[in-house]
Amino acid sequence: MKRYVILISGRGSNMVSLLDAGLPGICAAVISNRADAAGLAAATSRGIATAVIDHRGFASRTEFDAALAAEIEQHQPDLVLLAGFMRILGDDFVRRFEGRLLNIHPSLLPAFPGVKTHAQALAAGVRLHGCSVHFVTPALDGGPIIAQAAVPVQAGDDEASLGRRVLAEEHRLYPRVARWFLEGKVRLVAGRVQLAGEIAAGGSLHVPQID
Ligand code: GRF
Repeated sequence: MKRYVILISGRGSNMVSLLDAGLPGICAAVISNRADAAGLAAATSRGIATAVIDHRGFASRTEFDAALAAEIEQHQPDLVLLAGFMRILGDDFVRRFEGRLLNIHPSLLPAFPGVKTHAQALAAGVRLHGCSVHFVTPALDGGPIIAQAAVPVQAGDDEASLGRRVLAEEHRLYPRVARWFLEGKVRLVAGRVQLAGEIAAGGSLHVPQID
């Protein structure tokens, strides 16, 4: 069985969608940089080991990254999933886990990296918003994209309404991509995403019906 670790900072709804998806692997641990992350209780209630590495206890990003990496390595994961993990990870950390480090981002990258993505999308007036799952590289929200789900912007949308519909798609997309990875159907080869044939044929783009 392949092993995976999930990193969170807060609510953990993406984490729950991964844990409840019946993925073909063992979740070895959920690790948070905040002791008050609500997702920790949801992990514990599912029998998953949790750990907290509080970034505020370290003098530098490098030291925090090293402690986090050491905690992750203890679990010998094949896959590390960032799920609402709100710390920027340094180059050394990212290189160490390159090819087995995934993130979900609530926009159709490369549009709207960073935070407040739904507000950014509304301000830009885009008609299609959505979410992306990508391999993590040192460029913030800039790594090779594996799959995306599109969410039409509706008249009258505000940050909250748009964010809710995007989040619902995140909960479908991330487990799907994690499954592909654990089944060996997606990998990073020379900096590019390589997908198994049946996925490359169209499964990596999810477009809901527009009515
Ligand atoms: C999600 O929208 C995720 O894409 C973003 O932060 C949010 C985390 O939500 N990076 P949750 O903790 O998974 O509920």
